Amino acid sequence: MELIRAHEIMLNAPEHKQLPCAPEYAFGAAYVADHFCPVFEASIPFYDAGFFHADAVYDVVSVSRGMFFRLEEHQTRFAKACDTIRVKNPFTREREADILHELVARAGLRDAYVWWTVTRGMPPMGRNEMVHPEKFENRFYGMAIPFVFMFDDDQRASGVDLIVCREHIRIPSRAVDPRAKNFHWLDMQMALFEAGDRGGEWAVLTNVDGYLAEATGANIFAMIDGVVVTPDTGCLEGITRQSVFDLCKELGIPTDARPIHADELKNADEVFMTTTAGSIMPARSVDGTPLGDHGGAGETAIALHNRYWEKRWAGWHGTPVRYELAGE
Ligand SMILES: Cc1ncc(COP(=O)(O)O)c(C=O)c1O
Repeated sequence: MELIRAHEIMLNAPEHKQLPCAPEYAFGAAYVADHFCPVFEASIPFYDAGFFHADAVYDVVSVSRGMFFRLEEHQTRFAKACDTIRVKNPFTREREADILHELVARAGLRDAYVWWTVTRGMPPMGRNEMVHPEKFENRFYGMAIPFVFMFDDDQRASGVDLIVCREHIRIPSRAVDPRAKNFHWLDMQMALFEAGDRGGEWAVLTNVDGYLAEATGANIFAMIDGVVVTPDTGCLEGITRQSVFDLCKELGIPTDARPIHADELKNADEVFMTTTAGSIMPARSVDGTPLGDHGGAGETAIALHNRYWEKRWAGWHGTPVRYELAGE
């Protein structure tokens, strides 16, 4: 089965063409604390603890063919993340949605990567006040830019070379809860550098006991004995991960969320990763060992990838962008 070249389609098909917009917004739009601006003009104060302590939660929702995908679920996950780290979103859920719509509308994007955050913000200056979460001035920022693919069409079609990180583990959940999507990325970034050093293209991290947690910026899946498996804990509850569960159900493929030891990965028939910025991304090797006997991307991963995009473009879990907000 051929992989749908989703990026090529986004770049060329008329349904994906960027709508007319003010030239300064052509590369994207941002929202900084209390106003909209072109993305290249957005800046944050040094004092924001989101910047100097990586103290923030965020979320990323995508838009394709003019529709947000599973927007409500992204907003629900984000609200829980705010509660987990004890920041208060300055905006209501409705206002947050309005801002996300307006960001996409201002840039006229039909395919967008829409990112937003609430940071710990400005710290209190008084004596010993940092022990009180409500003394910080939490801040909201957001942006919409053209859709970003973690791997291009050729990489997704051939599958990527994955390594299991040996030098670092995923930060333990009791240190930083991975279910609250947050700014802590150093373990995942160091794992990517290890991948580069070892001739790989991407990395997956384990927990301290050698069980898979998640890949850098993505959930990890394997096809083992006819079952699509993914870790049950120690990872973000990805919205694309949920979509894979839904698609497998439709296709009659059994799934299981369970502990997976890293040693199981090399012997899997297929391995793939999932993230908003890339959808379903097949791997072709793990630690230099080719997967299965397909010599590239696995058939199940390609089938899931294609169905994901076909269904999305037909409106699956879609919320039409309110482009009229661009003019307000
Ligand atoms: C650490 C991590 N795990 C998993 C994911 C995938 O989540 P989703 O499918 O909701 O984008 C992401 C997305 O950025 C991530 O950063």
